[in-house]
Amino acid sequence: LTTAAMALALTATGAFASEGCDDGEIVVKFAHVTNTDKHPKGIAAELLKTRVNAEMDGKMCMEVYPNSTLYDDDKVLEAMLQGDVQLAAPSLSKFETFTKVFRLFDLPFMFKNVEAVDAFQASDAGQEMMDSMTKRGLQGLAFWHNGMKQMSANKPLLEPGDAKGLKFRIQPSEVLQAQFEALGANPQKMAFSEVYGALQQGVVDGQENTWSNVYGQKFFEVQDGTTETNHGALDYLVVASVDWLDSLDEGVRDQFLTIMDEVTTERNAEVGKVDMEARQAILDAGGKIVELTPEQRQAWVDAMKPVWDQFLEDVGQENIDAAQAINA
Ligand code: LMR
Repeated sequence: LTTAAMALALTATGAFASEGCDDGEIVVKFAHVTNTDKHPKGIAAELLKTRVNAEMDGKMCMEVYPNSTLYDDDKVLEAMLQGDVQLAAPSLSKFETFTKVFRLFDLPFMFKNVEAVDAFQASDAGQEMMDSMTKRGLQGLAFWHNGMKQMSANKPLLEPGDAKGLKFRIQPSEVLQAQFEALGANPQKMAFSEVYGALQQGVVDGQENTWSNVYGQKFFEVQDGTTETNHGALDYLVVASVDWLDSLDEGVRDQFLTIMDEVTTERNAEVGKVDMEARQAILDAGGKIVELTPEQRQAWVDAMKPVWDQFLEDVGQENIDAAQAINA
């Protein structure tokens, strides 16, 4: 077979079906920053792509760009408003320039686990948050979960005092900045793709993230250990531009949004499992995980929780009360 004949044969069997889009199909570029293996977002994005490309063949064609290969999170929303990318799922910490309502989710110890985050998001107040940026041109489509954040550094972190004076990489969030300042630490905003190198070279001493991100980015390789603090939530908003959604025919939009909802339900139900698999994979790869006693953990709560007061106006006492009622 000539190369051309082989390509034809492969195309006929569908082997190339996910590569490249056909004429007339609406191309949906989905850019995100994480890996795809043992990662809640990576897996959900792949499932979304597989379903859209199978069920909307001829109408829509999705391409997923993981690992910051298309855009970093600090660029992707602007690129979306320019029409250069159609879908993204940045963490809720990355919408600061568009809305402050998501600050609730960054507040340390606000939600006791992912189920509590889910329950709040399912409430009217949570659902309204998806529409908080429409005036700025962005429409939230779904909340995708990841997990609770853990804390690591180039030295053991057992008590809050251990973080004092250390430089921590943070996502671009004022709440996270205040959280590390409350510990007497030095927070530095940095793109996700740069964290491993910064830890390795000592540009920063530590970081906070979920098990799947600590595993996926191999942070455990360049840290003393990771302390199981479960101190905050890391959650995502799948987002598209209002203009792009409006440009879709109603039938196409409905089918796409239905698939989105189904993928969201299916994958959000599995995040606890993926989280634990990533945690185990860290241990299997020789990473160290430090568990806190209840007394030790309480000391972190006492040190970090006071930052709530600084953001009361942004997040609303009624939302804090609702979150706390869910935790109870
Ligand atoms: C981070 O920047 O640490 C995370 O938001 C990355 C991600 O998408 O999980």
